Amino acid sequence: MNKKSIKDVDLKGKTVFIRVDFNVPIKDGVIEDDTRIRGAIPTIKYAIEHGGKVVLASHLGRPLKDKKKAEEKGTEFDQASYSLKPVAEKLGELMGKAIKFEGDTDLNSLAEGDVLMLENLRLNAGEEKNDPDYAKELANGIDVYVNDAFGTAHRAHASTEGITHFVGTCVTGLLMEKELEFLGKALNDPERPFVAILGGAKVSDKIPVIQSLIDRKVDKLLIGGAMAYTFFKAQGYTIGKSLVEDDMMPTALEVEAKAKAAGVELLLPTDHQVVDSYDPINSRKAIQIEFTNAGLVGLDIGPDTAARFAHALEGAKTIVWNGPMGMFEEKPFDEGTLAIANAVAEATEKGAISIVGGGDSVAAINQADLADKISHISTGGGATLEFLAGDALPGVEALDQK
Ligand code: 3PG
Repeated sequence: MNKKSIKDVDLKGKTVFIRVDFNVPIKDGVIEDDTRIRGAIPTIKYAIEHGGKVVLASHLGRPLKDKKKAEEKGTEFDQASYSLKPVAEKLGELMGKAIKFEGDTDLNSLAEGDVLMLENLRLNAGEEKNDPDYAKELANGIDVYVNDAFGTAHRAHASTEGITHFVGTCVTGLLMEKELEFLGKALNDPERPFVAILGGAKVSDKIPVIQSLIDRKVDKLLIGGAMAYTFFKAQGYTIGKSLVEDDMMPTALEVEAKAKAAGVELLLPTDHQVVDSYDPINSRKAIQIEFTNAGLVGLDIGPDTAARFAHALEGAKTIVWNGPMGMFEEKPFDEGTLAIANAVAEATEKGAISIVGGGDSVAAINQADLADKISHISTGGGATLEFLAGDALPGVEALDQK
């Protein structure tokens, strides 16, 4: 990438705007996953230790869109639930430091080492519109702009792109650098064998990534999750009431042909956990894909598939995993995803560089307490997918070249 980093610039006495991605799940004021907050701390600490006056900014959710939806439906819109205040408090707890919040103080009264967090940027319509006036307002009084929000780097918004036109020095943060380094290496210069595991409900979400991985001649491509049913139906199997995207069937066949021509080994499940729709609780059983009848719904990969996929990871030197193998959020249909989490951790212990991204895959790693056994847990959702698809990320493009 060759983008200038926070380590390349002098921060002493400077007002440093750090765009972070603190778009974290919050329920009743409680933060359910603080991975993204923890991920940004090294950059914040670095700025403090080097004499910066730190301004932190992030979005949280999609408040204005949700407000519009609520108005259309005539339901209540709870603006308070979009405040970043609980996040500022959590950050303070994690850092053991008082974090000021927008309204407590202004930019001009910050001392070196102070941290001021702004309120949710998306409460201002100018943010998502990348409105130059709003970008200019954000840039006012800022000496150095740092983008550490890898998770939002695929958005050209006022705080990720627009602002860079109004600040003289625009650099990457440490988290951004780490994400680009791991994902960039996997995509452009992977140690081989390189194995990618993709899951999730929809083929349509993953097609650009699948194409890009095949173009880069990943050695093995393992496909699980509901998206596998589109492949099976396209091949003529009965998939019962399992999720499928009929309009993606031709694409699934094209992908298979493309993988074959490129010498990429494409592995699909051989068995799955099914239930019949009349008794979803008690009817769970693992069967071979070809024995699926019209009344069944597939909700997870089966044990044979989990073992085959784990075997396919043996000896891998690079592993990229994105997307669950089944209905992860519903026990016991998390078993297949957890089995893959364990297999990825085991392959990492044996020397693979592993990169895990996407909400459910990362949740599976955390649930199995394997986070420290993975080389890199990406904080990006859509951004990770766009990067792996080979797309340029506007939030990265906008930063200064080294
Ligand atoms: C994410 O959670 O993927 C990022 O924070 C971006 O959020 P968005 O999809 O609402 O732009």
